[in-house]
Amino acid sequence: MNSKSALVFGATGLVGSHCASQLLASNDYSSIVVFTRSPLPLSHPKLTKHLIDFNKLDDSLIRGDDLFCCLGTTMRKAGSPEAFEKVDFTYPLEIARAASASGVKQFLLVTSVGSDPSSANFYLKTKGRVEEAIKPLRFQSLLIFRPSFLMGNREEFRLGERIGITTMRALTAAPIDALKKYRPIAASIVASAMIAAAQHGQEGIRVFESDEIQSLGSL
Ligand SMILES: NC(=O)c1ccc[n+]([C@@H]2O[C@H](COP(=O)([O-])OP(=O)(O)OC[C@H]3O[C@@H](n4cnc5c(N)ncnc54)[C@H](OP(=O)(O)O)[C@@H]3O)[C@@H](O)[C@H]2O)c1
Repeated sequence: MNSKSALVFGATGLVGSHCASQLLASNDYSSIVVFTRSPLPLSHPKLTKHLIDFNKLDDSLIRGDDLFCCLGTTMRKAGSPEAFEKVDFTYPLEIARAASASGVKQFLLVTSVGSDPSSANFYLKTKGRVEEAIKPLRFQSLLIFRPSFLMGNREEFRLGERIGITTMRALTAAPIDALKKYRPIAASIVASAMIAAAQHGQEGIRVFESDEIQSLGSL
């Protein structure tokens, strides 16, 4: 039995909700603190919930061992590139800065397959930029997870995601190594991989591509 504490951002989302529930079930963590903008209908003796305004982050609350950042939106939901950037770049960076300053040991960040700060695609460029912006911050370890299309029970219908999953499933059906990282992946597996990686206690920066996430999360 360990007594680590975990902080989770994005716990109302697909990956983040799996993170929160798996962390609550884990014997490695005695305290799980979630930060959401809307109420999370979950209660558990190990769980502390903070309903927050992400534009006015209270840095003093961001204290713990391992921080799981699963925030994200879509361009359609955000409504503009600026609003998208706020959720996928500004918020994670501000959270990471506060976490680094308070001595959080491990920062676990979900970005995306194809993240690249020089990409012509705004989504992938933003994901790549946030990775680069967080890399210089001081953590025992920065663990970056780049999943392919996420599968799971999402209440909201996302046409692009559905098309992406179907297309990528077909394209990656052949056993070609170079295509493995594009295979759609279950959100629950991403969460399992993040929690497994956090237990390794490694130092430095490590990027997990989607096929590595699949292997690690399936152990
Ligand atoms: N979907 C895919 O196929 C896919 C593929 C590769 C990578 N990714 C990336 O993987 C990560 C997790 O994806 P996901 O599908 O689990 O995400 P998700 O289900 O859309 O959840 C996103 C989380 O971010 C929060 N959030 C969104 N906008 C916010 C705002 N303005 N202020 C505060 N919180 C906000 C959401 O809170 P609310 O519930 O309050 O909205 C939710 O908790 C994201 O970074 C995503 O870009 C996704």
